[in-house]
Amino acid sequence: MKKSFLCIFVLLALVSCGGKGSDKCQAGDDPARAANFDRSYPIVDSLLRVMTLEEKVGQLVLYTSDWDVTGPSIRDGYVDDIRAGRCGNIFNAYTAAYTRQLQEIAVNETRLGIPLLFGYDVIHGFRTIFPINLGISASWDPALIEESARVAAREAAAAGLHWTYSPMCDICVEPRWGRISEGAGEDAFLGSAVAAAMVHGYQGTDLENPLTIAACVKHFAAYGAPHAGRDYNTVDMSERWLREFYLPPYKAAVDAGAQTVMASFNELDGTPATANAHLLTGILRNEWGFDGFVVSDYTGIMEMINHGTSADLEDASIQALNAGNDMDMQSGGYSEFLKKAVEDGRVSRKTLDEAVRRVLTVKARLGLFEDPYKYCSEEREAAETLTQENRIAARTLAEESCVLLKNDFNILPLDKRSRVAVIGPLANSADDLLGTWRGAGRVEDTRSILDAITECAGQVVYAQGCDVEKAGQAGFRQAENAVRGAHAAVVILGEPCSWSGEAASRTSIKLPGEQTELLRCIAGTGVPVVLVLLNGRPLDISEEAALADAVLEAWYPGTMGAEAVARLLFGDAEPGGRLSVTFPRNLGQVPIYYYAKNTGRPYVHPDAKYESRYLDCENTPLFPFGYGLTYTTFSYGKAELSSGSFGPGGSLTAKVTVTNTGSREGTEVVQLYLRDMVGSVTRPLKMLRGFERITLAPGESRDVTFEITPGDLAFWRKDMTFGCEAGEFRLFVGGNSSVEEYVTFTYNE
Ligand code: NOJ
Repeated sequence: MKKSFLCIFVLLALVSCGGKGSDKCQAGDDPARAANFDRSYPIVDSLLRVMTLEEKVGQLVLYTSDWDVTGPSIRDGYVDDIRAGRCGNIFNAYTAAYTRQLQEIAVNETRLGIPLLFGYDVIHGFRTIFPINLGISASWDPALIEESARVAAREAAAAGLHWTYSPMCDICVEPRWGRISEGAGEDAFLGSAVAAAMVHGYQGTDLENPLTIAACVKHFAAYGAPHAGRDYNTVDMSERWLREFYLPPYKAAVDAGAQTVMASFNELDGTPATANAHLLTGILRNEWGFDGFVVSDYTGIMEMINHGTSADLEDASIQALNAGNDMDMQSGGYSEFLKKAVEDGRVSRKTLDEAVRRVLTVKARLGLFEDPYKYCSEEREAAETLTQENRIAARTLAEESCVLLKNDFNILPLDKRSRVAVIGPLANSADDLLGTWRGAGRVEDTRSILDAITECAGQVVYAQGCDVEKAGQAGFRQAENAVRGAHAAVVILGEPCSWSGEAASRTSIKLPGEQTELLRCIAGTGVPVVLVLLNGRPLDISEEAALADAVLEAWYPGTMGAEAVARLLFGDAEPGGRLSVTFPRNLGQVPIYYYAKNTGRPYVHPDAKYESRYLDCENTPLFPFGYGLTYTTFSYGKAELSSGSFGPGGSLTAKVTVTNTGSREGTEVVQLYLRDMVGSVTRPLKMLRGFERITLAPGESRDVTFEITPGDLAFWRKDMTFGCEAGEFRLFVGGNSSVEEYVTFTYNE
């Protein structure tokens, strides 16, 4: 009997192969749309013609595998579901051998032999772990970010995976939210560049290539704006704010060819995103032309009962599918209720078929119908994983993501011959360097910063000083003693990595435990202090930044993070990062972001009362968006414009000369901001519209040019159309968002 079913599949496959191959590459402006992304697959039509209702529903079901310490294992029930064609997709299962084992069940033991799709959270690397995404974005280096995703895809694909739940495109100005660590920071323009780079890295230009995997744009939408920073909490904002400041990175990822989108847990305007037709069908499919599939987040469909917009799981499942949510992650509602809902007309056959078509099309684009085992190669798994090349890529990105926030008297880089005291509760932790969502990353592959420094420096003494979380000063004396007689103290403080990521919100953004007290005690010795921070959110480090002579923000820098930090401290590498998120002076300033509006009463007079200001704190942040120092210095000439005005179809160029005025080679991130002076609706004080990393030798100058087009000036106007308005603009070029010098131009209609 099985054999005849297999024959059906083989026949379908043959028919399809014959009819395939019309490479109608929609040129567009994105190379990732080339190759097989727009191809139609006759096998999908053939399958849809012969699939039963149950089999169709099965393709919309995604279950997690269970794991135990010895590796993956799946509950018997799920194996039965796969075998019965009730579950077409699995996540949290990997290794070439294990995915092959499950794939064999789907291919050989189900009626139609439709291959499983294997997903996993490959968020900042698979086995070779890169810095957390907030750190990655601080590199402002899309090419290197793309490379990191390419490495992650190669490793994941070699372990049997087809699909990653990344990139996370949630803009966030809320440091209390633990998941700010997973995104690219506060800005839509930088966030869009990062999102597109990651999709290109994962997917390449040909998804059939077994070195690539499908991307998943998440969490759609606005998950990064929960009230009070509490995870999963209510989100509400105007449609205009949503479209201008939150949606662009998701769209950039879709435009880059991302094959799937994950609906977010939160509600938006009173409707959970999981069943939000305005988002999932109106914006995503109708406006943006997305043709992949949408998956719910983990039990997102079931959670609509708690949200209070569905009476029960049946109701929730019907609402979700009808709104455009194609796949059910882990709620089990589609599996239980969709067949009946189709039979009694509450879900149309057309709606069901469209959802199934989208899922099957992604499987076809991955080439799974041609060879369901192409990702299950143990030889490739051994050869591709944690290679020296991958490690170097991770180290380079870690170096570029670290942000030097302070360096008084050029205390950094340190002399390798000096005697260094390494202090702090995170100094000897390799585990924390990996951050959360560490894929298949292993602590054994990682060293602590203490170990890496010990390898570099002449003499090293170490004392932990205190716990990272718990109160207690018993170790302070030993730490002070270790510091006395040292040329410098490198104090490594921060948050345990489990304090970032999902369900890791805080009501304080200060260093936990008694770490600040420890720093005070070390600073009191008079020995120069270098503070290295490991954390996943902007922290209130006002006091710490004042106490330390140098501050290096290292985030959670990944498998090669310890080596990267040591190389930076001793001058073998240069801190290359610039903040992708504003660091506030205290939590009371939150939300604080560089693209604020002017208000009707901007704060301009130092002692005025009725202006937009605080009584007890400055308006400015501790460190602005775009900020970061290097081991050299740069100066900027005045920006020169090719013309004082332009109009529709035209453009102008802005040229600025940047000079390395220091005595070391260094890299600057040249940033271009615009301000629209008068609009039909209020406009931000600045909008990032371009950036470029340049490396200059001491004394070297370079002209950097940016082209400004109407697209850079466009916004959601009063009538909610997207476009430009005539008028005056200011153009700023500098090394961070606090740049004040500008030149003006006009846009004419
Ligand atoms: C829940 C998280 O919100 C999402 O980011 C992740 O991809 C899924 N769980 C699957 O692990």
